[in-house]
Amino acid sequence: MNFPPNLLSLLHRTSKLVALTGAGVSQESGLRTFRDAQTGLWAQYKPEELASPEAFARDPKLIWDWYAWRREAVKAVRPNPGHYALAEIERRVPTFMLITQNVDGLHRMAGNHNVLELHGNIQRVRCSECSLVVETWDDDTESVPRCASCGGLLRPDVVWFGEALPRDQLEAAVEAARSCDIFFSIGTSGVVQPAASLAFAARNRGAVVVEINAEPTPLTAKADYVLQGRSGEILPELVAAVWGG
Ligand code: OAD
Repeated sequence: MNFPPNLLSLLHRTSKLVALTGAGVSQESGLRTFRDAQTGLWAQYKPEELASPEAFARDPKLIWDWYAWRREAVKAVRPNPGHYALAEIERRVPTFMLITQNVDGLHRMAGNHNVLELHGNIQRVRCSECSLVVETWDDDTESVPRCASCGGLLRPDVVWFGEALPRDQLEAAVEAARSCDIFFSIGTSGVVQPAASLAFAARNRGAVVVEINAEPTPLTAKADYVLQGRSGEILPELVAAVWGG
């Protein structure tokens, strides 16, 4: 890709960069995005209908099984060149924060350390009653496993529609967005709040906003630079163009 020379020189000079990522970044690792149609067993459901406290209250086993299936899918995949390029950017830029809506843990696996997981992590499980985070549970049961401490049903430690984001992660994300000089929005449809507003928070404080996405989104018209295509291809090329290697 031919990158705008102004963007390359801005990146070369930046000292504070924030990257917000969504499901598109993991697509090239083999994970489905949220707004892709589902296939197979889960084709009859919309993710929005499964990722909610109401759905869990109605049919805990259905929701538990959907997450168990997704957890296995995540365990089977590895970071892609887009994830590794973001880890390289963290090594190159003095102050870097990666804010992700993904629950797959692939950014840390690729080597990023400064990671805020706004929507939790699918490999963690907690009690739906007392919130105790548990490391191990019995998955071979007919029903949803229960908390050893209070007997409540266990659930994935992720954020569902209608639930609040982890406060510390959100506050740190807003602070990082407001104080960066370049903000990347990568592989996210930009329709789920409050993550979608972070690009605008950055822009209002004078940051240069760069969107990297396979398709246009609500942010596209407001971004300073739009790099349309696959993040697993664009990010490594961009890193090579700015920092070499
Ligand atoms: P979406 O599935 O809404 O959007 C994925 C975006 O990635 C789309 O804009 C695609 O065009 C783009 N995309 C797909 N493949 C790509 C690639 N290889 N390179 C670059 N871009 C690509 O996923 P999110 O925006 O992450 O929340 O969804 C946000 C939240 O909504 C999720 O975290 C989840 C979901 O419901 C909760 O569960 C609370």
